Amino acid sequence: MFDLPNAVRNLRASFIQSEAQILNIASNFQKEMVNGLEGKESSLKMLPSFLTKATGKEKGVFLALDFGGTNVRILVVELKGNRQYEILKQHSFLLKDPEKGYDFTTRETSGTALFEYITEQIKSMLPPGSVYPLGFTFSFPSQHKDVNQATLIKWTKEIKTSGVENNDISGILTSALKSSNLTEQVILKAIINDTVGTLLASSYTDQNTYIGSICGTGHNTCYVEPRLLDTGEQMIVNMESGNFNKLPFTEYDDQLDLNSDIPGEQRLEKMVSGKYIGEITRIIIEDFIKKGLIFRDCKSGIFFSPYSINARDISEFLADESHDVNTLAVWLNDKCGISNSLLEERITLRTAASIVVTRSFQLAAATYIGVLQHIDPQLERKHTIAIDGSLYEFTPGYARKLNITLKNILKNKADLVSTKLTKDGSGIGAAIAAARAE
Ligand code: GLC
Repeated sequence: MFDLPNAVRNLRASFIQSEAQILNIASNFQKEMVNGLEGKESSLKMLPSFLTKATGKEKGVFLALDFGGTNVRILVVELKGNRQYEILKQHSFLLKDPEKGYDFTTRETSGTALFEYITEQIKSMLPPGSVYPLGFTFSFPSQHKDVNQATLIKWTKEIKTSGVENNDISGILTSALKSSNLTEQVILKAIINDTVGTLLASSYTDQNTYIGSICGTGHNTCYVEPRLLDTGEQMIVNMESGNFNKLPFTEYDDQLDLNSDIPGEQRLEKMVSGKYIGEITRIIIEDFIKKGLIFRDCKSGIFFSPYSINARDISEFLADESHDVNTLAVWLNDKCGISNSLLEERITLRTAASIVVTRSFQLAAATYIGVLQHIDPQLERKHTIAIDGSLYEFTPGYARKLNITLKNILKNKADLVSTKLTKDGSGIGAAIAAARAE
């Protein structure tokens, strides 16, 4: 027989990682890093960025293009050369807008059309005759040949535009700049991942930054590889860690993965990131409903329709720490038409969300420990882990508990490691990348 306390106990046991399990994941992660670096089979792509950390002295006015999802931003950034910067101008726009009747993200649209739309937006924002070096944050797995030359390996997230995968992004962007008559005005200097932007932006003001990460709709991490290149320099490597797959999957993770657009891929991202934490919670609750454990009269609605619970809902559940979980009573009434929820049902929903979120920061922490073990095995120096993203910034308790998880594991070395919210890495970081490439 299923009973609710037992089901919740099992859920907790299969999701929450002990310190030993976290260390085990960290060690598997480190092995995958090394395999990837050595060109052996690995779930980590370990993509070179052709960039080193920032010095804080980078200076000048740059154009930054931030494309990591359907919301694109263009910024004019001034780097002042003394660890300070200022955003002089910015413009955001969407790549799809059903109301206005356009969508550049579908298979039916070409990469040329997508990028020409972007360059036209750049044009609308620049004073005639002005000249800008461009840093381009392109937050998808890309193989670089040089700092400003990259090929998209595969779209992730929701973009499917044709003719971009396996193609040279720099070429497509440069042709689009030409079509918009911007060749003289906008000079592509660097293409970077958003994690790299985050690391660059943080290291501009804090030299202890060797790791940059995104915990938002997506999840990925980069770091400064200590093995020296022929040039005697250290390079930032984009691990595409969202694809890491040496992990303890639950039946719920497998179900989510099988029904996703990309089964078998981005398995860590599907356990950590904001795009998926609501969906994992929904699948758990759907299972509990089908087992007759909670919401017995509920036969359809939100808990039965994929991706109808999002990270914002999860934050709302966690923010209500009250005894009667009243926010959830209102939410259940408004969103699911459940007007007579029981206290134990509301507590179960909040507990499921909390278990999913706990595993999210535990797994992120495990990968950071894996990187630390690789770059500083004896943990001899300070490390700021620069993190950007809505999950880290807005989920109640996420940043604090992620830090506690790291500290509990690092024990007497705990003071050497901290995480730091680094806003706008994709914008400032792109400008720094352009400056470093010049
Ligand atoms: C996805 C992309 C990765 C990006 C991350 C965060 O995982 O593959 O390149 O860094 O999302 O935006």
